[in-house]
Amino acid sequence: MSIERRPDFSSLPLPHIRFGAGRISHLSSMASAYGTKMLLVTGRNTLSRSDFLSGLIAGLQEEGMHCTCLEVDREPSPEMIDGVISSSRKQLFDVVVAIGGGSVMDAGKALSAMLLQQHSVERFIEGQPGLLLHDGRKVPFIAVPTTSGTGSEVTSNAVISRVGHGGYKRSLRHPAFVPDVAIIDPELMVTLPPEMTASTGMDALTQLLEAYLSPFSSPYTDAVCLIGLEQFSTSFEKACGAGAGDVSVRAGMAYAALMSGIALASAGLGIVHGFASSVGGLVDIPHGTLCATLLAESTRENICQLRARGDASSALHKFANAARILDAHAGADDAEACDRLTGLLETWQERFGFPRLGTFGVRESDFDTIIATTRSKSNAIALNEKSMRSILESRV
Ligand SMILES: [Fe+2]
Repeated sequence: MSIERRPDFSSLPLPHIRFGAGRISHLSSMASAYGTKMLLVTGRNTLSRSDFLSGLIAGLQEEGMHCTCLEVDREPSPEMIDGVISSSRKQLFDVVVAIGGGSVMDAGKALSAMLLQQHSVERFIEGQPGLLLHDGRKVPFIAVPTTSGTGSEVTSNAVISRVGHGGYKRSLRHPAFVPDVAIIDPELMVTLPPEMTASTGMDALTQLLEAYLSPFSSPYTDAVCLIGLEQFSTSFEKACGAGAGDVSVRAGMAYAALMSGIALASAGLGIVHGFASSVGGLVDIPHGTLCATLLAESTRENICQLRARGDASSALHKFANAARILDAHAGADDAEACDRLTGLLETWQERFGFPRLGTFGVRESDFDTIIATTRSKSNAIALNEKSMRSILESRV
């Protein structure tokens, strides 16, 4: 079954993308096009502790770049961004480069967005009282992902979070914040540990599924999602196991994450990312882990509600299509394929031991607050409070 749709869609500009093994060697020439003063943002992960980073910085300096280094160890908070901006006021950076996972890229993106502004970053964060419209002026930004997850290398938003009572996890967003350059080099990903590969990979898969099922999807985003799902399908289990050191496997995962970022920017995301915002503002939980722990149950609930309401759209057919890409044994029957999809997601959940929400301090007494602040207008189907509670209860 297929539903005739007009191919209407909107898209953001894409960065200048350099994708492939060894492309990190292009960083110096790409950055120097903007000038010589670089703010280099990195994470405290395996890559930054290795000789790679010191070698990279030495190479940049040899070629005339002046690098100011900043290490970040968590998702950026308003205080972190404001603190770096105030201490950098007198330095006129020509370019910001972020090399790391989603949090590092978001920190770099937010810093590039705020270096030319006078107000606190909080004035520009979506949903905050007294929101100011950002004028789009920023310092040029180069994103270099070392994980395959968020797709932040091609999106226009940086996620900023303040965790705790009254906390939030929201976006600083403007079309101008799309990175100017994205250097996606799978060789930078071969040392990512299996646990991180699995959880960040599940973020990419969640984004592909949620964008594919979004009511705002289009033939354009569908095509992007389907090729992303194919790459994910052939790479994910290998990347988490014996193929971790295989650059072609890592390239498949990087491509899947890239496609997920392109698709979500146009189609939006669903209930798992709705929870990522509400739960992520309440407790300190890595974004990929949150996606990984909620994806199976959220998919089951979406399919259950679509069936209960006599799905008149093509949503169940799309879930079945995704199942047939991810599971070679999913057959032509849509209902059976949907069941296989939830089964596969549960198998991964068990195999990789994705921790439950309670591990991070979420309690049943938090559910009312979480549900009240969860938004998911791009979910496959509108979910009521009972459905959201059911998902949370199954994973607390
Ligand atoms: Fe995500």
